[in-house]
Amino acid sequence: METVVTAAAAQPATQDFLPLQGTDYVEFYVGNAKQAAHFYKTAFGFQSLAYAGPETGVKDRASYVVRQNKLTFVFTTPLRSQNPMADHIYKHGDGVKMLALKVADAADAWKQTTARGARSYQEPITLTDADGELVLSGIHTYGDTVHLFVERKNYRGAFMPGFRKWETLYQPAETGLLYVDHCVGNVGWNQMNRWVKFYEEVMGFRNILSFDDNDISTEYSALMSKVMSNGNGFVKFPINEPAEGKKKSQVEEYLDYYDGEGCQHVALATNDIVKTVTELRNRGVEFLQVPSSYYADLLSRVGHIDEDLRPLEELGILVDRDDEGYLLQIFTKPVEDRPTLFFEIIQRKGAKSFGKGNFKALFEAIEREQELRGNL
Ligand code: FE2
Repeated sequence: METVVTAAAAQPATQDFLPLQGTDYVEFYVGNAKQAAHFYKTAFGFQSLAYAGPETGVKDRASYVVRQNKLTFVFTTPLRSQNPMADHIYKHGDGVKMLALKVADAADAWKQTTARGARSYQEPITLTDADGELVLSGIHTYGDTVHLFVERKNYRGAFMPGFRKWETLYQPAETGLLYVDHCVGNVGWNQMNRWVKFYEEVMGFRNILSFDDNDISTEYSALMSKVMSNGNGFVKFPINEPAEGKKKSQVEEYLDYYDGEGCQHVALATNDIVKTVTELRNRGVEFLQVPSSYYADLLSRVGHIDEDLRPLEELGILVDRDDEGYLLQIFTKPVEDRPTLFFEIIQRKGAKSFGKGNFKALFEAIEREQELRGNL
């Protein structure tokens, strides 16, 4: 049993004790890192950046780093069975292990969070090579997921010490993906508020939006969600828990197949969602489809939008509006055989919310997939 949350934070909310500069990278533990990197290059347009493995002096694993604009993904696989990473993959399948956050002071980030009750994953460590030094530290969050704090202001290399630049002849064009908009965690029954409290007290985040099972339920499946944001809004972590419905919640299906709590989806931002999704589809990325009836009354629900309706309908892109503007979004099917991790592609045009108006149509689409898997 983990102890995650201790006493209430002593700091007033006005002082950000954990200033975050954004998402540094997302690291996935996968069964075959070489092939995973190839998939994300081919299908999503990531570019080769760095590699670590036996050839660079790392004996127990291989890691491939790919990048597109401000998005950095790392795919890591163990080289032998006697390795905790192998246990992670056996239990969870391919999935997100590290949500790494960029900070100015990784030692202080670790000190501040562990003093507030975070369980340490990695004490501050300085990694050095000819390109400078990089400081890393880390804490545990939900499930087996980890937040690393990365301080790279004194590092000039491709990624970090231990890695070498990865140059390949094969380099598919980018697809317009820009940066991580948000990362969603699925946690167990009645665990949402525990993790809300963790992000508030241990990391200084605040709850900016809440959805209960009245907002997010269809005839069958339900969930509850609270969106946590850090002080400057660069890092947003919605937390979902399953809710009782007539049949199995999509969050429960995730928990069953991931065998525990973990990252449900990573939302990737674009400035031109029609172009990006057209490109992704042409490269074989599969998306959830809503019925065409969704588009019949779309404009009466969301008002004027700059985009033509036809390509949105052809691609299955959803639209929602809040007080500040609107957003366009679409969700991939799970990107592995277990119905676990998927991606969202999102274009914000002023809106800071998460597409609440699309939940019903979207969750009905998810349930059709659950039904096909025999999990509803
Ligand atoms: Fe999302």
